[in-house]
Order: sequence, then C-alpha cells, then structure tokens
Amino acid sequence: MSAARNTLRITLLSAAILLTSHASAQNVSGEDLYKQQCAACHAIQKDAPPGMGPNLHGVVGRPAGAIAGFAHSKEFKTALKGKSWSPELLDKWLENPQKVAKGTYMMYQQADPAVRAAIIDYLKSVK
Ligand code: HEC
Repeated sequence: MSAARNTLRITLLSAAILLTSHASAQNVSGEDLYKQQCAACHAIQKDAPPGMGPNLHGVVGRPAGAIAGFAHSKEFKTALKGKSWSPELLDKWLENPQKVAKGTYMMYQQADPAVRAAIIDYLKSVK
C-alpha cells in the first residue's frame, strides 16, 4: 500500500474513532466497545494476523511487545521494555498512549474511566 493511501486510511480511522470514543459504557458491553474502538486496528481471535496494531488475544498479563513479527515503534520498545500489561498499565495506555510511550504509533485516547474499565474487563476474558 502506498504511503498516501496509508495516511488516508489512518486519517479515516482517526475520524471514525473520534466519532465513537464518546460512546458511554452504560448499556454497552466491553466487547461492543472493543469492536467500536479497537477492532479496526487490532485482531483478537487467537493466532489471527496483526492489523495496524498487534493481536490482543490474551494481552492482559502478557509482556509488552511480545507478538512475534509485529514491527513496534522504537519509542514503544524503549518505554515498555521489561513491562507486562497489567490492568493498571493498560488503563494508563488507553487513557493516553503518548504519555506511556511518547511517539508510539497508536493513535487513540479514551478519557472515560468507565469505558476503559469495560474494555479491559473484556480483554481479561479473552485468553
Ligand atoms: C488507529 C489504530 C489503533 C487503535 C484504534 C487502537 N490501537 Fe492499540 N495499537 C496500535 C498500534 C499501531 C500499536 C503498536 C504501537 C507501537 O509499536 O508504537 C498498538 C499497540 C497496542 C497495545 C500493545 C500490545 C502489545 O502486544 O504489547 C495494546 C495493549 C493496545 N494497542 C490496546 C488497544 C486497545 C484496547 C484499543 C481500543 C481501546 C486500541 N489499542 C486501539 C493501533 C491502534
């Protein structure tokens, strides 16, 4: 895919995410929030190939950057070296990835703690 098309894809995805990231956690399951807010970039079925981000099957408790074959940013590798995805670290990550690893490729932010908690509970259940 050309760089221009990649940029367009990222722009469209960001627009879609801005539209959906205000969805509240009330009456919406963690799985549905995941589908709205993460699935465009992350597969979650076991052994599914990565999308724009790595596969998240069993991510809770897993060492950061452990999916073989996914090209993480240098910033991600430096900031998260030796760390594992505890629920607490995931919460910080989803609130603002740039605060955890400045310069990371993940373009997403979620200000609502209830939405983050629902998504993290769902991630815990997929292992
Ligand atoms: C616009 C695409 C995009 C969206 C939307 C997105 N991510 Fe990501 N995510 C990425 C990319 C790209 C990376 C790799 C970052 C890097 O290497 O700098 C990543 C990395 C991650 C990682 C690290 C995984 C590992 O194996 O260490 C986790 C955890 C994660 N994302 C969770 C989520 C969750 C949960 C959501 C939804 C709430 C989400 N992401 C939404 C693109 C995205």
